[in-house]
Amino acid sequence: LRPLRVGMIGIGTVGAGTFRVLHRNQGEIVARAGRGIEIVIVAARNLVRAAEIVGDGVELTDDPLRVAIHPGVDVVVEVAGGTGPARDWVLAAITNGKHVVTANKALLAVHGTEILEAACRQGVAVAYEGAVAVSIPIVKALREGLAANRIEWVAGIINGTSNFILSKMRDEALDFGTALAQAQALGYAEADPAFDVEGTDAAHKLSLLAANAFGMPIRFADAQVEGITSLSRLDVACAEHLGYRVKLLGIARRHAHGVELRVQPALLPATHMLAQVNGSMNGVMVKGDAAGITMYYGAGAGSEQTASAVIADLVDVARLDGTRPAQRVPHLGFQAHALRDLPV
Ligand code: HSE
Repeated sequence: LRPLRVGMIGIGTVGAGTFRVLHRNQGEIVARAGRGIEIVIVAARNLVRAAEIVGDGVELTDDPLRVAIHPGVDVVVEVAGGTGPARDWVLAAITNGKHVVTANKALLAVHGTEILEAACRQGVAVAYEGAVAVSIPIVKALREGLAANRIEWVAGIINGTSNFILSKMRDEALDFGTALAQAQALGYAEADPAFDVEGTDAAHKLSLLAANAFGMPIRFADAQVEGITSLSRLDVACAEHLGYRVKLLGIARRHAHGVELRVQPALLPATHMLAQVNGSMNGVMVKGDAAGITMYYGAGAGSEQTASAVIADLVDVARLDGTRPAQRVPHLGFQAHALRDLPV
């Protein structure tokens, strides 16, 4: 088989990590994919910096649309972030018959329905493991590993930055601003960190988890969201004193007539498993009627941690490219006609 040809839009923290890991682990990745995975073109804002990362043999452009419609590309990796322009690039790629891999949770939370419908019509894949709890294969777990289950709830710590801040407030008595500045310096935070600390990023991810857990459309706008901006060191210390930890939780729970979607700070008993998830780590628990409770733990942010998921999606695409759409795992784990519009 010829190599899978990749066009990449964006080469910031995640894009650079993807290059490094693809190069370093080429042998393992090719052995798993059954063919090579070759990045042929990259769109970047800063072409000088991009040239240092990509090396020779990769075309560079400052026009993302050129990547999206490039005739020599089988799959477009969108790791630029943002919603408006990213929507246009991704839809252009799909319309031109290309598969899409993205780690952009905001894009899918806001425009996911339109994007997935377009992908269904065109018979291409949209893969987004890197969009939720980066290193943890939670989308695959819900879609594949737990496919036999009626899911009752999903609950977790799914924003690394806010978990890092809460952990630093507790362990090192740092104030909110100092802890946030550290998270930004370590590359965990969103370009606009308000998305992290106001709970929006967690709600983006929660809406994707709920869609995969319950077979419902992506309903980000209906989630109830409260972040951690009103919490002080004193709140965290008082909770600790009483035997609790403050954690920003995303909860999606099935009820008789619909689904509850909320993101909020919660007091967890210090012995609770999710209370052990500290720093920038993420942890997700899922209750299925057959499997019972399963738990997933891993890095919730970071360059190679996200690249790990992006490349896993590329390996999936390398395997499925050329198969008929009907043989593929559906975008939300449920066949499109089986999706139910559960009220939130
Ligand atoms: N800003 C995000 C977080 C990055 O802190 O979780 C990973 O999605």
